[in-house]
Formats: sequence, C-alpha cells, structure tokens
Amino acid sequence: MNELDSLVKQAKQLFAACSSPAELENAKAQFLGKAGHLTMLMKGLSSLDIEAKKAQGALINAAKQTIEQALNDCRQQLAQAELQAQLKAETFDVSLPSQAMSQGGLHPVSLSLERIEQIFTSMGFDVAQGPEIETDWFNFTALNTPEDHPARSMHDTFYVEGGYLLRTHTSPMQIRHAMAHVQTYRDRLDAGQTMPEIRVIAPGRTYRVDSDATHSPMFHQCEGLWIGENISFKDLKVVFTDFCHAFFENDHLVLRFRPSFFPFTEPSAEIDIQFPDGPLAGRWLEVAGSGQVHPNVIRNMGLDPERFMGFAFGMGPDRLTMLRYGVNDLRLFFDGDIRFLSQFQ
Ligand code: PHE
Repeated sequence: MNELDSLVKQAKQLFAACSSPAELENAKAQFLGKAGHLTMLMKGLSSLDIEAKKAQGALINAAKQTIEQALNDCRQQLAQAELQAQLKAETFDVSLPSQAMSQGGLHPVSLSLERIEQIFTSMGFDVAQGPEIETDWFNFTALNTPEDHPARSMHDTFYVEGGYLLRTHTSPMQIRHAMAHVQTYRDRLDAGQTMPEIRVIAPGRTYRVDSDATHSPMFHQCEGLWIGENISFKDLKVVFTDFCHAFFENDHLVLRFRPSFFPFTEPSAEIDIQFPDGPLAGRWLEVAGSGQVHPNVIRNMGLDPERFMGFAFGMGPDRLTMLRYGVNDLRLFFDGDIRFLSQFQ
C-alpha cells in the first residue's frame, strides 16, 4: 500500500472513532490542516519535475477528496447522533393545553342592542344617547310624575348629591331629545312650516333598587318615541309588532297590548308576546311598557298638545336577550363569567 492509500485509511479510521464534533475537527486538522499530512505532501511537490508534479498532484487531490468525503460523512453521523440524544433527553408533554390566544367578542346584551338599533334605523328611527345621571325634573316631573306621586315609589333609585339621581328609565330621553329637536326647528315652527316628525330610539343603562333572578340594580332599557301630527296607537301596534317579528325572526309571534298605567302615557299598555312554539310557547311574556304620550308631556317637550301626538314605549333589552337565547337568570349577564359569555360568540 502506498503512502497515500495508508493516509486515507488512517484518516477514515480516526474519523470513525471520534465521538464528538470537536474531536472530529481536531482529527481533520491532522490531515487537511495547515501542517496536516496532505498539505505537507502538496508542499513537497515543488521539488518534482513538471510531469511528476502533475501525476503526483492528481493522486494527492484524489486522496484529499476521499478524506473530505469521509469527514463529511462522519460530521453528518455525529450531528444525527447528537439530535437523537437531544430528542431522547428533552421529552415534552404533547397533551398539555397550549397557551391559545383568547379572542374577545361583544356582550350578548350589546348584540341585542345592535340588533334593536339596526331594526329601528331601518324603519327610519334616529338613535339618541343620554346621561345616566339625571335630574329629578327629566326623570319624573317632566314625565307628568310630580313629587308625592305614588308611581315614584316603584322607581326607587340611587340618589346622588345635588338633586341628581341615576335614571330609573330611559323615558327622560323623550323629553331631552324632543326639546333638542324642537329647539332646532323652532324657527320653522314660528314661520308656520311643518316640523319634521320626531322618530327616535334611546337605548342605555338604567338603575333601580331591585335584585333577583329577573331584576338587576343596573339594567338596560330602550326608549322609543314617535311624535307627529297624526301618530296613533295603531302606529304603535304596527311598529312594535314589526320589530318583535324582526328581532325574534318569527312572523308567527303574537303580541298583546294589555291596559296599564303610566303617568306619562294615556292610554297606556304593557306589551306581552307569545311564542307559537319552542320551550316558552303558550306563555305571555312582558317585554315593554307603552302608550300614547300624555298631553302634559307633549307640552313639557315644548310642543302644542293640540297639534302634536304620538306614542312612546320602553322595552328591556336584557329581557329580550334572555328570551332570544333562553337564559333564565338575568344576573348571569352581569357576573362577567367568561364561560357563560363566550357561548354567545
Ligand atoms: N318608562 C316605563 C318603565 O320604565 C316604560 C314606558 C316607556 C312606558 C314609555 C310607557 C311609555 O316602566
């Protein structure tokens, strides 16, 4: 065996015996490094004549290539072995729950409010917002409910210093919106022109001292008001019936207008609905108070009750949400339990 063959054999053996990449790189240096065996042989070529140089050079190059090939093979084997050892050592539990990004969504009552707004705006209603901290005048007096009126006791609420209170219903928005509206069109009225109708809903939070499965100290209401020169109880029935059919996506839903009393409407009615089928079928469920706006209230809006008339209603979006999704405890909506709320996404 010539010198080159034995060098190749030696290198292969040495490489194969290495047990780490570092060891292998050291072994490589013995053959291919600056002072390695093959490098020295190459350097030795300079003393040969041109033909011998060519022949010998080619042989050395071939040996070098073989050694490099062997080196690469060993490198790969060691890398593989290292990976296997790592995989063996680093076992991990694939059954652990991942840290999934949780995605938020709208609260079920917000979904209902969006739905209510969408349905009423499609019928030409505006949407108005008003303050939750209200004056006694807007909340009661302007709504034909003077001090000492027994109806006030049904609206016990949270009183704030300075004559303010947390509004017990969204009805004060009837007055607020109408007053703002009348202000805007006063000039037209003075000029004997007709005033555009007031057609608005006012959703928002309301407060009463009440707490059980169907009452919460904070709850939502949505007021509706349509005032014009000829807006009657018949219009109320049509509008509210259309709304209920759209909201519950059920044209077979039946409505009942049950005579009732509110100081600010005359005549007044509670609105009950009945589902034709499903778990609630056959029961009358109260969803709103309503009526023709009382002349005193029209006057407090700044309008002439001899000329203007219309209807108002106040409904409970929380109640509507309970009915729509079959929830039987109102408090679930406001506990903030993500397991409950995420079911509506
Ligand atoms: N504000 C009344 C309530 O909270 C509901 C209502 C609104 C009744 C408008 C008639 C007209 O009970």
